[in-house]
Amino acid sequence: MSTAQSTLTRFRLNGAPVSIEAAPKDLLLDVLRDVFRLRGPKYGCGRAQCGACSVLVDGKIARACVLRAARVDGAEVTTLEGLAEGDRLHPVQQAFVEKQGAQCGYCLNGMVMTACALLAQEPAPDRARIREALRDNICRCGTHQEIIESVEQAARLMAAAREVSHG
Ligand code: FES
Ligand code: FES
Repeated sequence: MSTAQSTLTRFRLNGAPVSIEAAPKDLLLDVLRDVFRLRGPKYGCGRAQCGACSVLVDGKIARACVLRAARVDGAEVTTLEGLAEGDRLHPVQQAFVEKQGAQCGYCLNGMVMTACALLAQEPAPDRARIREALRDNICRCGTHQEIIESVEQAARLMAAAREVSHG
């Protein structure tokens, strides 16, 4: 991906420092998939309209299909692969398993990453708020009900974990 106008771009990816030579046209999604071989973020629409490519940049949801890679210089980028701790799933992932929040799974990356961003900001969103937060993530399989229930379950799991850690 390096060209004469490439710029050295350094960022943290799932907790580890990385650097790339990013050409001005390079998109973060291509860098994540083609350079770092991460398969969590998916290519769906390529126009910031479906959510399949979602990642967290400094904790906020970002559409990697339209974000220039050079823009994440100095940032903390988290992908689906960065959520689990070893064999232990992130509570949002665990909740999606428990509530069967996927059919084909293509939208799953965006749903999970968006839920993570939401619950980090708002630990106990009501159903209307969850719907609103996921509004721009498209599920072609019509799994919305199970997805909403998954996010509610994730909030419960995270609340329980907080209680345990606070004694
Ligand atoms: S692929 Fe990025 S929002 Fe659809
Ligand atoms: S589960 Fe297939 S697109 Fe959502």
